Formats: sequence, C-alpha cells, structure tokens
Amino acid sequence: MRVVIFGGAGFLGRQLALALLSQETLVVNGESARVISEIIIADKHIDQSFPTDNRLKFFEFDASRASQLKSFLKQEVDVIFHLAAVVSGEAELDFELGMEVNLYMTLHMLDLFRRQKKNPVFVFASSCAVFGGELSEFVTDATATTPMSSYGTQKAASELLINDYSRRGFVNGRVLRLPTIAIRPGKANAATSSFISSIVRDTLQGKRANCPVSKEAEFFILSPEGVIFDFIHAAGLKDEQLGSNRIMSLPGLTVSIEEMVSALEEIAGQEVVDRIDWKPDAFLESIVLTWPAHFKTERGAALGFYEELSVHEIIKNFIANHMNT
Ligand SMILES: NC(=O)c1ccc[n+]([C@@H]2O[C@H](COP(=O)([O-])OP(=O)(O)OC[C@H]3O[C@@H](n4cnc5c(N)ncnc54)[C@H](O)[C@@H]3O)[C@@H](O)[C@H]2O)c1
Repeated sequence: MRVVIFGGAGFLGRQLALALLSQETLVVNGESARVISEIIIADKHIDQSFPTDNRLKFFEFDASRASQLKSFLKQEVDVIFHLAAVVSGEAELDFELGMEVNLYMTLHMLDLFRRQKKNPVFVFASSCAVFGGELSEFVTDATATTPMSSYGTQKAASELLINDYSRRGFVNGRVLRLPTIAIRPGKANAATSSFISSIVRDTLQGKRANCPVSKEAEFFILSPEGVIFDFIHAAGLKDEQLGSNRIMSLPGLTVSIEEMVSALEEIAGQEVVDRIDWKPDAFLESIVLTWPAHFKTERGAALGFYEELSVHEIIKNFIANHMNT
C-alpha cells in the first residue's frame, strides 16, 4: 500500500510518517490490515531528518503549482494524509498565499482525484479555527462554522468541498478539526497559537518565553501523540461509520493558561515558570481569543478518537519524548 503525506516534512507530517514506519501495516476504510510498501513525503521544503528506511520516499515540490501536483499524482496512491498548509499567522498576514495553499491547492488535489475515478481515502487536517466570534457555550459537531480569520475560512471552505467530493464518490474523505496541538517540539512557528507550546517547551529548555494573553484565557488542546493516533484511526474507519458528514471535531482538553502554568510549576518547579514573560500582543489576541475553548465531541469519542487525560500528562509526555528534539 502506498501512503502519501502532503506536508510530510512539517511538524505533524513527520511524526505521522514515524508512526506509520513503526507499525508496518495499515487498516484503511475498515478493511483488513495491509502492508505499507511506501510512505511518500510530499513537501515544499524537506529539511528535517528522517530515519533510513527504504519504505520512505521524498518528493520536494510546491504542491500549489497545479502542473507539479498533476505530475506527482500520476502515481497510484491508496491513502492521502493532507496536512500541507500555511498556518494561521502566515495566512492572516499573506492573504494570497493562504488562499493559494489552504484552498486552491486542496481543490486542485480533490479535482485530480475526481478525474482519476479511484476514490482514495483522504484524511484532511482542518482546525477548530473554523469557529469564532459569538458562539453558544459549547461548540458541537452541529455548530455552524463562523471563522474569524482567513485561515479558518480557508479550512471551512475546504471542509465543505471534501464533504461534497466524498458524497459524489470522488474521494473517501475524513475531515478532522484539530484542537491546538501542544506541546509542539522544536522551534516556534508562525501559528498564532505557537506561544501555548512555547511557554512550556522553551522554559523547560532554559529559555525565556512570552505569553501574549492573560492567565484566564482558555484553549482547547490535544497532544501530538493524540493527533497522530487520530490521523491513523481516521484512515481506518469504514465509510459507513462516518455517513454523509465527513467532518468532525477531535476530542481534546479545555485548559486555561493558569492551569498549564501551575501544572508546569508542579512538574518542573518555580524556576521554570519564572522564565515566562507576560507581554500582551494585540495581533495574536485578535485571532486566538476568537477561538472557542469548550467543545462537546461525542461523535469523535463514539468513533474511538483519542481521549486526552490531563495537561499534566501532556507535559510529562513532552518531557519524556520530545525534550531534546
Ligand atoms: N499544529 C497545530 O496546532 C494545528 C492545529 C490545527 C490544525 N492544524 C493543521 O494540521 C496540519 C499540519 O500542521 P503542522 O503544525 O504540522 O504545520 P507545519 O507548518 O509544521 O507543516 C505544514 C507543512 O506543509 C508544507 N507546505 C506548505 N505549503 C506547501 C506547498 N505549497 N506544497 C507542499 N507543501 C507545503 C510546509 O512546508 C510544512 O512542512 C496543517 O494543515 C494545519 O493547518 C495544525
């Protein structure tokens, strides 16, 4: 079986590739497990290190270029994990780039699959940023999308297209609305939520980190381990389990900055917490504070997606698995 990860050299794409390499077989659409013969990393920039494994193949190209995407997709693929995106901060600052990558590229991809008439399983990383503004106390799977950023709007438009392309049998879509993924290892990125990871990761690594929002601010988060489980789980679900609506919010954890910081203090001590600066940032606040933090994700839970236990667990997993990466 041939698996493609668009955005495979990004933070989550690389973790997904490593997880797939470790399990040898993959269940797709409820069928019996098949051996993974190739994991294709398709990304605009491949500058991360990967283990030596002859199942890994690398294609470095700009998938928003329609001609390059077309020639890449001439090969047979069984499962596509589409994680390539311009993240929230960048898409807000550069509207054209956000539209090009987050919307038109996804549409081109879907349309190439339509023409191929093969109906591959297509797992898409959407975001809770499809919600924003005035919302009821809890966001459910029935809540209307009301994005308050260009990134959220581009993700919401892609979601609808994947639903319709799935309904028509052009792709077999699974759209996962990701909570903010924390704690993200490595360096800070251009996602407006980047500070949520930074106040834990950087301070644990002896560096200072700025928190641009107040301690009362709440976020809906999921660990990297959780979301990687969810991507693989989503590919394995049978389409009848999903029905006509392929879009779902992943279960996560609602946590305030105060709760995160006090968990960090309990685990690592006051000295680490003292490395946090508290300088407000109006641009970041104007985006991240529009994201809802309270979700009811019964559908995701019933479908067997990952249930996050506690912020303590998330911090301890980061220390155990990613501290030096
Ligand atoms: N990390 C989070 O907190 C989070 C939360 C919600 C949703 N998501 C979504 O999950 C996905 C993965 O997120 P991530 O944190 O790994 O992001 P990331 O920025 O680390 O990875 C995205 C990858 O896409 C690649 N890419 C961008 N434009 C491309 C193009 N034109 N052609 C080919 N590749 C291109 C980038 O080079 C990068 O490697 C994204 O779709 C993101 O919107 C992430």
